[in-house]
Amino acid sequence: ELPERDDLPLAGRRVVITAGGTKEAIDPVRYLTNRSSGKMGYALAEAALAAGADVTLVAASKRPCSPAIRLVLAPSAKAMLAAVKKAMVGADAFIAAAAVSDFALAKPFDQKVKKTSPDAHLTLDLVQNPDILKTVGQQKQPGQVVVGFAAETENLLENAKKKLTSKGADLIVANDVLAPQAGFDKDSNQVTLVRADQAPVTVGPESKLAVAKKIIQELVRLLDQA
Ligand code: CTP
Ligand code: CA
Repeated sequence: ELPERDDLPLAGRRVVITAGGTKEAIDPVRYLTNRSSGKMGYALAEAALAAGADVTLVAASKRPCSPAIRLVLAPSAKAMLAAVKKAMVGADAFIAAAAVSDFALAKPFDQKVKKTSPDAHLTLDLVQNPDILKTVGQQKQPGQVVVGFAAETENLLENAKKKLTSKGADLIVANDVLAPQAGFDKDSNQVTLVRADQAPVTVGPESKLAVAKKIIQELVRLLDQA
């Protein structure tokens, strides 16, 4: 009889979660970003904490959260990768909920870019950012569990299955970002949990916290099997 096992299934487990849309500097006053609010990552951190985990949340931007969550602010993809690598040492699980900018400026401007003539064009040279989830997936240690998201506007399941393999993830949370009750800056979400040898399971539409709790339940199962 271990009553706390059911109440706090992640007691003694260390979970690292990313959240939010990264910001990639253009110049000292401007950046490139995307439409992610970070709400899903913060909801996952709260759900993991409620399940008894020791939680490190590596977030691109600050939102209110429980003081027991170890919040590490990392605005850019490069900063996020560095913070995640550090936090993953000895961790049991990684959940990549951040909307990481796929591109960053090859060389951000040192000074504010000024307007020149009225018809002037500005071309930005973008290079690919490091893939945080893939890096963690490739360096996965025995017993560790890696969960990724897939933000898709078409071919949801097909694209999610590809990401399961290419990222070395145990679970992909597939998000149809154009669905009416899913996606950016909403308080609700609808996702499909995609695993290698199981039929996809749809969760929601319901609050992001309710969806997060179900993802954490799945994480508990994966950790028990790992
Ligand atoms: N991800 C990441 N680092 C990146 C890009 C994505 O960690 N540089 C993670 C996201 O946090 C998410 C997963 O990878 O968990 C999938 O992100 P998504 O944008 O859907 O896929 P990409 O691999 O970036 O491919 P694409 O955007 O071309 O579909
Ligand atoms: Ca992407």
